Amino acid sequence: MSEEIFKKVVSHSKEYGFVFPSSEIYDGLGAIYDYGQNGVELKNNIRQYWWKSMVNLHDNIVGLDSAIFMHPKVWKASGHVDGFSDPMIDNKDSKKRYRADNLLEERIAKYEKDGKTNKAEELQAAMDKAILDNDLPALKALIEQHEIACPVSGTRTWTDVRQFNLMYKTQMGALAEDAEDVYLRPETAQGIFVNFLNVQKTGRMKIPFGIAQTGKAFRNEVVARGFIMRMREFEQMEMQFFVRPGTEMEWYTHWKEQRLKWHNALGANPANYRFHDHVKLAHYANAAVDIEYKFPIGFREVEGIHSRTDFDLSQHQQFSGKKLQYFDPEVNQNYIPYVVETSIGLDRMFLLTMCESFKEEQVQNGEQTETRTVLNLPPALAPVKLAVFPLVKKDGLPEMARTIISDLKYEINCQYEEKDSIGKRYRRHDAIGTPFCITIDYESLQDESVTIRHRDTMTQERVKIAALKDLILPKVSMTELLKKLG
Ligand code: GAP
Repeated sequence: MSEEIFKKVVSHSKEYGFVFPSSEIYDGLGAIYDYGQNGVELKNNIRQYWWKSMVNLHDNIVGLDSAIFMHPKVWKASGHVDGFSDPMIDNKDSKKRYRADNLLEERIAKYEKDGKTNKAEELQAAMDKAILDNDLPALKALIEQHEIACPVSGTRTWTDVRQFNLMYKTQMGALAEDAEDVYLRPETAQGIFVNFLNVQKTGRMKIPFGIAQTGKAFRNEVVARGFIMRMREFEQMEMQFFVRPGTEMEWYTHWKEQRLKWHNALGANPANYRFHDHVKLAHYANAAVDIEYKFPIGFREVEGIHSRTDFDLSQHQQFSGKKLQYFDPEVNQNYIPYVVETSIGLDRMFLLTMCESFKEEQVQNGEQTETRTVLNLPPALAPVKLAVFPLVKKDGLPEMARTIISDLKYEINCQYEEKDSIGKRYRRHDAIGTPFCITIDYESLQDESVTIRHRDTMTQERVKIAALKDLILPKVSMTELLKKLG
């Protein structure tokens, strides 16, 4: 059933111009997607909500836009060249490659579904231990013991488990012989670390302070699925918060609370969120937690909060030979700051927003009951805030509609619609989450009033054109949403 809802969200996203498979006329490209006319507006609004809340509402957090390409040594220093990999296994008959841990997780889910709780727990514990010990032969042994077969060939002839690096490599330089290997960044965070002193010095920043950025990241995910849940090209919104060593756990708790508050302000059902502490800490972390959301296909990570210690700055100091220290006048000491990171996937937040707001409701239309598909998007995130309909395409009504749009469009994203019946126009805008629609009729020419219809309640009322802005703007503005963060 829930899988069904997820499928509906995916097809709705395509049908209404939110997300298209990349290069679709060439049958698409695995796990790469494009955002359509409504998707780009929603995505921009989510990014803006994050940026304003993190950067503009904090006087000790500033922004950055670092390049995707970075010096190759960055990735050596960060540990990504040697350690950013997944344990993979190939089936010799189908030649298909799988993540070994995913095969085991699927088997655990099956045991749980079949009521074999003990077996599920036993396998989970054995898998966690193998991952923690980086014991690849043990992972293979578990796949064999539990008789896991390739979903494509149905056979159990597996290769050994090997680590597979997720970074994309390309060349920089005109001549093949001079070309240098460079990587497409797998996270935006490293751009912040290497600019730590540039920003600190030019901005005269005092610890504790943060640097935030949004931007593309690339990972050669072998098992990329779940629509835009796991992509090979995606966007991150990350903030690195630099603190005095020894205070990092206080800040870790602070950012855990702040980030959940950010999510909750959007009005989703709080029961759909939970924290999940990491079992296996990444090489750079001394504490890490995921904020997970209950997607129709189950709880999945949306955001990570990581206490990264001084690992990254220390590594860059060592590999670059440049001091990356901060003089703290309060304690009269030089030190390498510790870092608490908040890292959220913009695409995953987009998917969360679509899943949370997608509703199919039974509504009465005269004698008939029909299904209304509506996106109950938080109004500040909606791609279109106000749809403007002339009742007919003549007699000055379209002109009046255009005049209203001209007055409002600088502050409220409006869309003009004159095709089809008013009922059909309402349905189209319900489907893209437009919070308000207004209809201009013959009376409007006399009384300077219009009928406004509210998306969620479907109620209608008559209002003066002059009152529209004051009625709509507070309900759709980002400012009101941001004020909820206090
Ligand atoms: N700098 C830390 C870092 O990159 P991460 O947990 O690997 O941490 C952070 O990624 C967030 O980026 C995740 O919580 C998720 O929302 C998003 N993300 C990671 N891989 C992704 C992928 N392949 N497709 C879409 N989003 C992804």
